Amino acid sequence: MKVFELLAKARLEKRAILAVNVSNMETIAATLEVANKVKYPIIVQVSPIQIEAQKLSYKLFVDLVHCLAAHYPCDYIIHLDHATTFEECKNAVDAGFDSVMYDGSKLTYEENVISTSKVVDYAHSRNVAVEAELGRVGGEEGTYSTNQNAYLTSLDEVIDFCSKVNIDSLAVAIGNAHGFYGNEPKLNFVRLKEISEHTDLPLVLHGGSGISDADFKKAISYGISKINVFTELDSAFVKGFVSKFNEDRKVYMMFAQRCGRDEMSRVMFEKMQVCR
Ligand code: 13P
Repeated sequence: MKVFELLAKARLEKRAILAVNVSNMETIAATLEVANKVKYPIIVQVSPIQIEAQKLSYKLFVDLVHCLAAHYPCDYIIHLDHATTFEECKNAVDAGFDSVMYDGSKLTYEENVISTSKVVDYAHSRNVAVEAELGRVGGEEGTYSTNQNAYLTSLDEVIDFCSKVNIDSLAVAIGNAHGFYGNEPKLNFVRLKEISEHTDLPLVLHGGSGISDADFKKAISYGISKINVFTELDSAFVKGFVSKFNEDRKVYMMFAQRCGRDEMSRVMFEKMQVCR
């Protein structure tokens, strides 16, 4: 599986691949354009919530990405982020995604083992990779979170889970959270180091928005090889769009949208430099 090889190699070489949540032509094009410019692989990801909000389908998303990638040639992976049901994962696999995340973090540990295994069986039979989550990454995109340490990933669970479920990458909860951080994020590097010493799997850091470049680098040195960023890039787009509108209340959408895209690309470019 291409994504597993990409992330495993990144982990070995102490690099990470940026995974950007996108859901429309502008944001997909911006992401592929930056990857093309930097000449560095990218993970283009979307969650079921985004698919629904943007009135997309799994197939339409895959077609859109392939179509735009023809204009911005680069090494890219199409990934489903935070699926919470088997059906969502199946829809993505059937539509041609390269990789899916089954998020069983709100289930009991035993239920997470059973449900993730079912997704792995289906996805692997079609050569699609699976990311799982242990512990629970706090917060939600678009909100402020202050309780990042609530559900740290347990080392014992990592060891047991990896012996039972044949996953390709693992999202860890180490004080990271989705959305805007209400207070300064403090990543638990001791826990991350312990986890990385017990598994060679590529580790995934969710909630990349608001985490400093120095912490990105430290996390990468301890085995993080995929970093998810959504809120900060999405917010950059909105800021660019709104500032153009504030400058000229009669602005055409294409010009405001262009400003949003440029602003998102600028922030993404900086993040990608830190990952490589
Ligand atoms: P942020 O929105 O906090 O960057 O998190 C993104 C993420 O982890 C998507 O799974």
